[in-house]
Amino acid sequence: MSTRTVRVSLGKRSYPIRLGRGTLDGVGAAVREHSDATRALVLSVPPVDAHYGARVARSLRAAGFRVKRFLVPDGERSKRLRQAERLYGEMLDQGADRGSTVIVALGGGVVGDLGGFVAATLFRGIPVVQVPTSLLAMVDSSVGGKTGVNVAQGKNLVGAFHQPSLVWIDAATLETLPARQLRAGMAEVVKHAAIWDERLFRRLEREVDALMALDPAILLPVLERNCRIKAQVVSRDEREGGLRMLLNFGHTLGHAVEALRQYRGVLHGEGVSMGMVYAAAHSERLGLAPEGTRERLEALLDRIGLPTALPRFERRAYLRAISVDKKKRDARIHFVALRGIGRAETVPLKPEEILPAGVLGKSR
Ligand code: NAD
Ligand code: GLY
Repeated sequence: MSTRTVRVSLGKRSYPIRLGRGTLDGVGAAVREHSDATRALVLSVPPVDAHYGARVARSLRAAGFRVKRFLVPDGERSKRLRQAERLYGEMLDQGADRGSTVIVALGGGVVGDLGGFVAATLFRGIPVVQVPTSLLAMVDSSVGGKTGVNVAQGKNLVGAFHQPSLVWIDAATLETLPARQLRAGMAEVVKHAAIWDERLFRRLEREVDALMALDPAILLPVLERNCRIKAQVVSRDEREGGLRMLLNFGHTLGHAVEALRQYRGVLHGEGVSMGMVYAAAHSERLGLAPEGTRERLEALLDRIGLPTALPRFERRAYLRAISVDKKKRDARIHFVALRGIGRAETVPLKPEEILPAGVLGKSR
């Protein structure tokens, strides 16, 4: 089975990301290579399980695992302690001990974050294999070991770093991903190009239509390049001491939009898209990025069909939403600014410096 491999280098916690197309039936053998466990718990959500759950289970059984499929309801609401508790219970009732079970997270970022969190915390850590099926999960959330759940006070506030043993990407699974979710995942692809790789950005400008049509000639190379960028960043700064913060480009305002909309009607990638355009414009205002940077970024996001303008909320509301961002330190936020397409840096700014009076228009 032909796959490309990207390695995440983290000493003893290093692992491969293996990418291919039509490779889902090979997942069992690959998990076997990376695990001594006897049981596999496949965590998924109904829309993903319906397409791929049986195939993954069959492949794991063929590789000698006793397999249990475990479903949580679809959507962000499943990323919570109650679902984690159900999972702990299920595995403990089956007699799981530290070495016996591997969790296989089959789905988007919700399943990956929840499965990773349960793996990080049960017996203080059991192995997890990420099998991402959304574009966002393939290029971003399945790589890097951030796991977590949401609590009433905010998203991702309870979590742990726990690297997977393996990330298995079958690009063919994107064929069943809803179009809006595909577009939202593209925001993270554009983000990687904008902060790290002008060449990738130029390729997207040339070939984004083929990419959105999942043309294999561009899909796999772009997935691989994105995983490589994420792997490089994470390998150099696993715990977000500095460099990894660049991956939060567009997230300060993006999170604010999601919060102000109460996480309804706006997808994470859509928030990030609006936040990136704002951040690029602000980078120009701060004299960091050359004029035209925002225009180029916005034109690409527009072509993808992502929203680029911040919704109409009062400046006060935005400032409040930015200020509760957990990335705030000593009243300053590590705002990710562009130096140009392909280069980014963090700038410590107060919320009112991120959103000066007047930038949202006179009436706000
Ligand atoms: P998601 O997991 O909810 O998936 C989006 C939707 O697509 C769901 O309805 C899901 O059922 C469906 N889906 C996924 N793959 C499919 C497929 N192949 N076919 C048909 N339907 C499919 O959301 P997401 O956008 O993948 O992830 C968002 C989550 O990721 C958020 O909770 C966010 O906080 C988290 N995240 C984590 C990190 C990290 O580093 N850990 C990074 C970015 C985002
Ligand atoms: N998605 C941001 C990070 O993994 O750090």
